[in-house]
Amino acid sequence: MRLDIPDLSLVALVGISGSGKSTFARRHFTPTEVLSSDAFRAMVADDENDQSASADAFDALHHVAGIRLRAGRRVVVDATNVRKHAREALVALARAHDVLPVAIVLDTPESVAWQRTEARPDRQFGRAVLRGQQQNLRRALRELSREGFRKVHVVTEPDDVTIVNERAW
Ligand code: CTP
Ligand code: MG
Repeated sequence: MRLDIPDLSLVALVGISGSGKSTFARRHFTPTEVLSSDAFRAMVADDENDQSASADAFDALHHVAGIRLRAGRRVVVDATNVRKHAREALVALARAHDVLPVAIVLDTPESVAWQRTEARPDRQFGRAVLRGQQQNLRRALRELSREGFRKVHVVTEPDDVTIVNERAW
């Protein structure tokens, strides 16, 4: 599967915990392009799992994303982005900087994502949280293209993905 991603774009990864977002980001993008909500939670609250730090973490993430986009640098947002308000903020940010918002959905089976999450010592949340994310993801899959994303790529075989950098203009 070939994904054409404009050089200058804001790429929103979308997927439940354990769907493989961070693995995908590491494999296909440079470390400095990737802004991860976990890294920003750690930066502002010393704990990447501290959900009470999410508002501050996203504030900081959006701020850095804006600075990069203003300088003509691509941004890849590694966060679940399964909730509409999270995606709306990213579309608005892309528009404010005149770059294309692109979504890459990692549509990994919930059972696989749960197995991986359960195996991680650094993930403590329960099965119900993942189920809730999956319900939000199903809704997202119906609504994404109407939310302003210029391209929506749904990935079910991440090992089979080739990213092609597209010159936007
Ligand atoms: N993993 C795997 N095979 C893949 C992708 C991921 O075994 N094809 C493993 C990773 O090594 C990791 C776990 O599954 O231990 C979760 O993958 P990760 O990429 O970290 O998932 P995320 O979607 O980033 O999860 P989170 O939202 O919790 O950060
Ligand atoms: Mg991750």
